[in-house]
Amino acid sequence: MIPTLEWTDQGVRFLDQTKLPLEETYVLATSYQDVATVIRDMIVRGAPAIGVSAAMGMALGIQNSPSTTVAALSKDVDEMAKVLAATRPTAVNLFWAIERIRVLYYQLVDKQPANLSEAEKIERIREEVRAEALRMYDEDIEACKTMGRFGAELLPKEGTVLTHCNAGALATCGYGTALGVIRAAVEAGHKINVLADETRPYLQGARLTAWELLHDGIQTSVLCDNMSGALMRKGRIQAVIVGSDRIAANGDVANKIGTYSVSVLAKEHGIPFYVAAPWSTVDMATKHGDDIPIEERSAYEVTHSNGKQMTPDGCGIENPAFDVTPAKYVTAIITERGVLYPPYDESMRAMEAAVKAE
Ligand code: MRU
Repeated sequence: MIPTLEWTDQGVRFLDQTKLPLEETYVLATSYQDVATVIRDMIVRGAPAIGVSAAMGMALGIQNSPSTTVAALSKDVDEMAKVLAATRPTAVNLFWAIERIRVLYYQLVDKQPANLSEAEKIERIREEVRAEALRMYDEDIEACKTMGRFGAELLPKEGTVLTHCNAGALATCGYGTALGVIRAAVEAGHKINVLADETRPYLQGARLTAWELLHDGIQTSVLCDNMSGALMRKGRIQAVIVGSDRIAANGDVANKIGTYSVSVLAKEHGIPFYVAAPWSTVDMATKHGDDIPIEERSAYEVTHSNGKQMTPDGCGIENPAFDVTPAKYVTAIITERGVLYPPYDESMRAMEAAVKAE
């Protein structure tokens, strides 16, 4: 399996996604601050991968903290949560993962027997937090595989599927969300040809999606971002599937910039538009997609390509990293808990109730 991120005895090891597809090199994060840098610099990226990375960052920070009392460690934990949460604003998985570890940490603090020394309490907390981060890693892969099983039957038995950005093994702990569905369909015998939008300006489609699908022997061609409409019109695309960074309670979906345009084109041409995302991407506290914070990234990503300046000096630049696809363009949302259909405000509320009842 593609080693996107991995807990090791030395720290958290990341496949450096900024160097793909030409170099397969690794970055070792030995502190939670390193993990924050790895997330901010997009050495690791993709909503589920960012979430688990942050959880591992918290576990690493707790493991390495020089604090000798639980009270001092708690202050460190609050600081770690703050630093990791300030890395990227859109993918809700980041905040979900940090909160899951922080809540567990405080539960563990309350649970420690009074007769233990501070050092013994800290050691027990460290072990349990690390185990939780590793559990989140395993759960993420499991969720991707389950989404794959649910989603595969929605894809054509034979045909071409368009995807945007990278929602694959590289964006998760393994297997992928949207690409996991494609992988599962191929494993089930569907004859699928993938079109990957190049996904300017960061080129997640051209660099990452194409790399990982070819790695698995899945037929893939890269399209420039302005080409899919023409191919849809010619009947060359049978389905679209993408991942998501945050899904609002009404079913509006935030994903990589350009996703919205693809969804409108798909609707115009009567092509199903699917979103695959784990339940940790759902943000029921955000009622409407317009309330999802959209990351604005550096102008340099647009002005330069491979270090070469592409735009005239003094030119204005826009670089929103994500956009919101209104729920009315989404045919179905595939999660590891089942497939959601419109009206999403109802189907999502019902799934939330089921999750809470567990
Ligand atoms: O800026 P990125 O590369 O982190 O954006 C990633 C995406 O938009 C993905 O489509 C999304 O996170 C879903 S990943 C399973």
